[in-house]
Amino acid sequence: MAIIGTDIDKAVDLLNRGELVSIPTETVYGLAGNALNPEAVTRIFTVKNRPTFDPLIVHIASLSDARNFAEGINSQARELAEHFWPGPLTLLLPKKEIIPDIVTAGLDRVGIRCPDHALTRKLLNRIGFPLAAPSANPFGYVSPTTPQHVQEQLGDRIPYILDGGPCHVGIESTIVGWEDGKPVIYRMGGVSIEEIQDIIGPVIVTAFSSSQPQAPGQLQSHYAPKRKVFAGDVEELYTRLKPSKPGVLLYRKKAISFKAQPIHVLSATGDLNEGARNLFGMLRAFDHADVDVVLAEFVPDVGLGRAINDRLRRASHMVIG
Ligand code: TXA
Ligand code: MG
Repeated sequence: MAIIGTDIDKAVDLLNRGELVSIPTETVYGLAGNALNPEAVTRIFTVKNRPTFDPLIVHIASLSDARNFAEGINSQARELAEHFWPGPLTLLLPKKEIIPDIVTAGLDRVGIRCPDHALTRKLLNRIGFPLAAPSANPFGYVSPTTPQHVQEQLGDRIPYILDGGPCHVGIESTIVGWEDGKPVIYRMGGVSIEEIQDIIGPVIVTAFSSSQPQAPGQLQSHYAPKRKVFAGDVEELYTRLKPSKPGVLLYRKKAISFKAQPIHVLSATGDLNEGARNLFGMLRAFDHADVDVVLAEFVPDVGLGRAINDRLRRASHMVIG
């Protein structure tokens, strides 16, 4: 099993030697390796069982580092970075040659992000290279938001998990790139569309609508837990499916007309930030419960709610209603 601890020296030492370390970020835990070392990056794909056509995000300590890895930072990208970094925003920018092709799966853009977590920022400031880090889960499964989630699934394949506590955003970064000079959101995440539009005006959202994804994370079969999740109106889902042992995921506290166990509530008071923080842990919890299906309701489609609904759709076997 991996060691879980807060020893930055140990993490620095492992990363310097081309080993992998799971790192905390404000969004989800990452599976990190030296982005400039193709062997370390290859190890990331192997440990995650991730296809090599799916590129990795490169994590840096500050905006000034971005210039070492991106060929040009357009003015909107700079405005967004100045506003939201460190934070849950990934920018797709033309890559510099120093970034190995395996990191970007041969694409000419590199995803760059400056994570907002004190331990990981300390770590990034100690090492002389950026960290390639996908979410620290086996390919296709729900992302981890605690060290224990990482331990459960990858603990026997990595030496160390840097313990930064539970992730305070809880949902992956928003991914923004430019096509013909126009901003495009490829994945909804911890920075809402509204917040981005407040800074740079209208953006195109292609997240979850493309059959030819620019970001393979747009594939529908992503982020699924082991239990079959059905999303929609839970009463209607129950009537249609008549499950014998349903588990239920509600947005906020409310009465339901049928028996379900367990019932998880994303946020008793209807706070979307709290809902995002709880989402992945609750989806995981059903995998350990005696349920035959999970009936999940959508949340209001505003702010972080859009990213939550996006993840619920991806986690779902079927959406009804
Ligand atoms: O919040 C996050 O972004 C977390 C933490 C650890 O930083 N990372 C994360 O990485 O979610 P991952 O690999 O699980 O998801 C990154 C997504 C993938 O869908 C990948 O296809 C897309 O970003 N992506 C990365 N680099 C890309 C590139 N150069 N072009 C297009 N898509 C890219
Ligand atoms: Mg992932």
